[in-house]
Amino acid sequence: MTPGTVVQGNEDRSAAAGIEMDEVGPIIEKHRKQRGGLIAILGDIQARYGYLPEPALRMVSGQLGHPLEEIYGVATFYRSFSLAPRGKHHVCACLGTACHVRGAQRIVDELERKLGIQAGQTTPDGEFSLETVNCLGACALGPVVVADGHYHSKVRKSGVGDLLERAAQGGGSAEANGAPAFVLNACCPRCQSRLEESGHLIENHPAIRLDAACRGRHGWIRLSSVYGSRQIASEFPIPAGSVVEFQCPHCHIALPISSRCWECDAPVASLQIAGGGKWNLCCRRGCPQHLLEIS
Ligand code: FES
Repeated sequence: MTPGTVVQGNEDRSAAAGIEMDEVGPIIEKHRKQRGGLIAILGDIQARYGYLPEPALRMVSGQLGHPLEEIYGVATFYRSFSLAPRGKHHVCACLGTACHVRGAQRIVDELERKLGIQAGQTTPDGEFSLETVNCLGACALGPVVVADGHYHSKVRKSGVGDLLERAAQGGGSAEANGAPAFVLNACCPRCQSRLEESGHLIENHPAIRLDAACRGRHGWIRLSSVYGSRQIASEFPIPAGSVVEFQCPHCHIALPISSRCWECDAPVASLQIAGGGKWNLCCRRGCPQHLLEIS
């Protein structure tokens, strides 16, 4: 099937869902030859529409030549994908073991009570969606709630109202919203050099400086040191979905790869946290997976 081909009957569904199929084709083309391309395609579609509309999934299936069930299998396996439109604000509470033992269920109960919905539902006005997950990768900071991408650590039942209010007001970093930012001091795991640059701030904190290589280009990259933030600055544009190789700017040795990302199968690089522990980062631009291992 050639690019731009629309599965028969898809036009009607697209119109009904308000989906511009013209926008899906280029997304598929952009990632179709990459390793882990399907995840990147679904990620871009989700970013564009806020969920994975059925007509778009049919088009992905048709153009990649994968059975629709397989596409749905991937789309339903990863919690970051949604098959239904989400609310304007997305709240995700962790019910994993570390958060559970610190009272996460009480936080979820309070979120459900305040929003008047159950986890997995969207408020009738379309403002909030609530979900639970089994780990958000910040176990030492539990109970953890992520609202519109901002991490809230050590959440208390009495703080749930504020958290929702801040989400409703929208935007800003966790710290700007009044919640404490969890700032990481990172070192190179090879030469132990500190990686913060006090002269370059991202979100009011010294950025973490690394060297990056991607698609034949090399240059500096600065990551926000605020855990949960995805803000970066880089010397050259790094397209969403591409995989970056990180090097220490002091010893010029590549960061060690600790595993593969369970979300997108890209390599996961490790930084050492000053004071003990590791910060594992997925090397794919745009993938939200990062995990703290505090020791
Ligand atoms: S168990 Fe909640 S962040 Fe890991």
